[in-house]
Amino acid sequence: MSRYGQVYADWQADPVGFWGKAAQEIDWFRPADKVFDPQAGVWGRWFEGALCNLCHNAIDRHVADGRADQLAVIHDSPATGKTTKFTYAEALAEVGALASVLRAQGVGKGDRVVIYMPMVPEAVFAMLACARLGAIHSVVFGGFASKQLAVRIDDAKPKAIISASCGIEGKRVVQYKPLLDEAVDMSTAKPQTCVILQREVHPCELIPGRDLDYAQVVGAAKAAGQTTECVPVEASHPSYILYTSGTTGQPKGVVRDTGGYMTALKWTMSNHYGANPGEVFWAASDVGWVVGHSYICYGPLLHGCATIVYEGKPVGTPDAGAFWRVVAEHGVTTFFTAPTAIRAIRKEDPEGEFIKKYDLSKMRALFLAGERSDPATIHWSQDKLGVPVVDHWWQTETGWPITGNPVGLGVLPIKPGSSGVPLPGYEIVALDDEGHPIATPNTLGNITIKLPLPPGVFPGLWNAEERYKSAYFAEFPGYYATSDAGMVDQDGYVFIMARTDDVINVAGHRLSTGAMEEVLASHPAVAECAVIGVQDALKGQSPAGFFVLNNGVTTPPAQIAEELVKLVRDRIGPVAAFRMALPVNRLPKTRSGKVLRGTMQKIADGLPWEMPAAIDDPAVLGEIEEIIGKNRDGGAKA
Ligand code: COA
Ligand code: AMP
Repeated sequence: MSRYGQVYADWQADPVGFWGKAAQEIDWFRPADKVFDPQAGVWGRWFEGALCNLCHNAIDRHVADGRADQLAVIHDSPATGKTTKFTYAEALAEVGALASVLRAQGVGKGDRVVIYMPMVPEAVFAMLACARLGAIHSVVFGGFASKQLAVRIDDAKPKAIISASCGIEGKRVVQYKPLLDEAVDMSTAKPQTCVILQREVHPCELIPGRDLDYAQVVGAAKAAGQTTECVPVEASHPSYILYTSGTTGQPKGVVRDTGGYMTALKWTMSNHYGANPGEVFWAASDVGWVVGHSYICYGPLLHGCATIVYEGKPVGTPDAGAFWRVVAEHGVTTFFTAPTAIRAIRKEDPEGEFIKKYDLSKMRALFLAGERSDPATIHWSQDKLGVPVVDHWWQTETGWPITGNPVGLGVLPIKPGSSGVPLPGYEIVALDDEGHPIATPNTLGNITIKLPLPPGVFPGLWNAEERYKSAYFAEFPGYYATSDAGMVDQDGYVFIMARTDDVINVAGHRLSTGAMEEVLASHPAVAECAVIGVQDALKGQSPAGFFVLNNGVTTPPAQIAEELVKLVRDRIGPVAAFRMALPVNRLPKTRSGKVLRGTMQKIADGLPWEMPAAIDDPAVLGEIEEIIGKNRDGGAKA
């Protein structure tokens, strides 16, 4: 019998009491005067008056409490063929030394530090070192181009950047340093210091006066026994800024608090994921995404687990058994990845032959998030792995799951296609477009969360308070608009079906079609364009761009298409996976000039569609249908 119903009811009856009790799991330097202040901030604020430190709770506390010799961080890198392990005591030495290096460079409480790193343990140490100082880190995913890094540098204005000479993407060495240098050149907010981790596979040149060699400076600090104390910060102090895609090209700097975040993560570790301190918890994601922040770095460490930093892919490093090898070798009990990774594995190993080769007996559950888990993926993995497979839904903004299946409270029946039930803290309401709650179960609507939001959910956007209010709270007063559409069934299970904005989800990566359109539109030959996300069997969605050429352009459209593909890769990055650019004579529009992207998407996905009443010229949709039809099998992919 699951205790979920009772626990959710307890939260509903007394949310403040519920989170006050959960907060007892955290070490506070000073407890809160008020567990929740409804008057503060845009929708209230958690743990007002409290003082705490994220690094203290993630590392120091465990060393003091007897976990010094227990593993904290395991770096498993098929990319380099090496595995490196750090105990909590060793992690403390690394983090303390790096923090002292940063402090010597003038980094202190409230200063920003950009982290642009591949999947190496130093990325996690860098995050923790910032948290130790009360500095605000902003991790930028390695698959973004230097232009994107520059935009984030200019917004965050970091005092320092921590980066590496290179990353390894499958068999490709991605040189980070030239991308970093180019980004710093482009940006107006130049950092004083860059700490660069030299990697054996491809070391880089350092810029004298600006760049420090990570191993040298941290090594020297460690040898000298240098460390820093954990700086007490207010519970509401920003721990990090994580940029995510919105409807425009300017990314949103999601701000995370400190005290509420710790409280919520700790609660989820035992109650949602069912993890116990001392076990090995593995989220096969990237530190550049929110999953990486919450469940590679902070969550497992707050809970006293060992976490795995995996520098590899689900397939190809070297085969479709890579994940199962890691689970078996390190005794992973809780495993978390994206559905797209499972689809990639299933494609190469449909019968699950690799699964049979490894001892996966310690793994109790598989958690999937980042995009909707299609029922086929759930069925296949449950069948092959023989453990509960839990789809759970959340966003960069929330920092932890909104819905799921709380394995730690006793697993609930799994409904493939649903991302589970609301976790305590979240009251989910499906609203119609006029903002009225939808009474009939299983009816598609706008999925919203009734205010106030629970601890850890973003209190703001960096430098963008008006955007915060208008993007999330203006459309449905009293609710947080998730920008996801879906439905709630008669048992309270939530089904998240699609975004209501211009965000698409490609291989579990959140991308803005608006940002891609800005890039296409900047090409001198392009008069107008539209980018939509089309269904993709492996990646969930993939972007498709349609462009109209300016009059008089003589360059062949196929060449322009190639240039556009390159332009998106250069300006946004390889992660955009933009490979399809299709020339069209005109775009379908309403009489008021709005491009009918929704209808184009339905056509591309082969879904039933109706001629929009407000269409300017109905014939255009026929033209679009023909072009999509011709290119469905990749004909015009550049
Ligand atoms: N640094 C540099 N480049 C990166 C990168 C990184 N950290 N991550 C991805 N890229 C590149 C890839 O190499 C690829 O480049 P290419 O066009 O030269 O081949 C491009 O970005 C697109 O990457 P992706 O969409 O991930 O495709 P893929 O074919 O390399 O891999 C999957 C497909 C399904 C195996 C992979 O997307 C995956 O494991 N996804 C899981 C995502 C995830 O964990 N999301 C977090 C939410 S939980
Ligand atoms: P991100 O902020 O990158 O984590 O992306 C958040 C978005 O990814 C959500 O708004 C959803 O559109 C989508 N998403 C994440 N997890 C799920 C899930 N389990 N089911 C459906 N959609 C999901």
